[in-house]
Amino acid sequence: MDEEFVVTPWEVRGRVDYQKLMQQFGARPLTQAEVSLLEKYAGEVHPLIRRGFFYAHRDFDAILKWHGEGKPWALYTGRGPSGPVHIGHMVPWILLKWLFNKFGVEVYFQMTDDEKFYDDPEMRLEEATKWAYENALDVIALGFTPDKLHLIIDTKDIKPLYPIAAKVAKKLTWNTVKATFGFTDSTNIGLIFYPSLQIAVAFLPTELHGRPTPVLIPCAIDQDPYFRLARDIAESLGYPKPATLYSKFIMALTGESKMSASNPNSAIYTIDDEKTIRRKIANAYTGGRPTAEEQRRLGGNPDVCPVYHYHMLFDPDDASVEKIYHSCKSGALLCGECKQMLYEKIRKFVKQHQEAREKARDKVDAYRLSSKLS
Ligand code: TRP
Repeated sequence: MDEEFVVTPWEVRGRVDYQKLMQQFGARPLTQAEVSLLEKYAGEVHPLIRRGFFYAHRDFDAILKWHGEGKPWALYTGRGPSGPVHIGHMVPWILLKWLFNKFGVEVYFQMTDDEKFYDDPEMRLEEATKWAYENALDVIALGFTPDKLHLIIDTKDIKPLYPIAAKVAKKLTWNTVKATFGFTDSTNIGLIFYPSLQIAVAFLPTELHGRPTPVLIPCAIDQDPYFRLARDIAESLGYPKPATLYSKFIMALTGESKMSASNPNSAIYTIDDEKTIRRKIANAYTGGRPTAEEQRRLGGNPDVCPVYHYHMLFDPDDASVEKIYHSCKSGALLCGECKQMLYEKIRKFVKQHQEAREKARDKVDAYRLSSKLS
């Protein structure tokens, strides 16, 4: 019997069947054909793609072919700034940075402080905006330069977006957005209008450059409803359809399908200190057995284990990850040692990231699209 699961842009419940979800949404699986095409243009394939963490798409092949014809395109992704960034949020951005390194195209990054304000009854607008600036540090820390990374904070940088959002909003009926996002009669109208803004950024590069400039959007698959609608209306507005590349969700340290912002122990934040990181990893749920004796005899289950999941996400060395997988299954590797290995990897990643993050402070405005247009 299948367990029930629910995925919307605001909620993930139950154990997600990723193949089923992709089919429900109508996205396509990332096959060897697309991966080979990527390899042709990028020279290699990122581990997150090779390992199937990015696993579905819309028109990824089409954008690669477009690139092959020498035509312009851009990258686009975003974040709902509701609190500190955890290392799981960084994963799609790590791929974003890799794609940027390989293709050198412009990157549009939307901070949706308005969305988080509408969505969370407790959230003050000023607080969401503050998080937008804070979270921008984490994006900039990946090594983007202001000429190529265009940051859009919705409540601050609305000017170039608003005319596009108006055109988008006119194409979308209440009936459509209600069915697509599961809105009800008691949903506030901010949230109902909001999809126009997330969709608008997909069309922004075309407006700014005055010629067809499609975007590729790497993000988690829960964002598909926006871009499905964007694709439906693009041509009627004279814009190219956006392409997407979808990841699975990052497992919570508690073993759930997705990290929850409400439980700080379910995630490692990029601002956590070493002691906190050590404690969170030590307390993490694992796919291990109740006793060491049983684990030696029966082996562990890396497939349900967040500790293994993070090795898979943060260790670029295939051989090392495979070794962890098999020695867990065989019972040779116990959870304590495996957690210690993970701690070392995450500690290094976070240390380097925190240094870069502090250097980005006071530089955020230089990345904002508004500061470059005027
Ligand atoms: N809605 C997204 C969130 O809550 C934020 C977002 C805006 C986004 N534009 C995007 C995410 C484009 C991915 C791609 O996190």
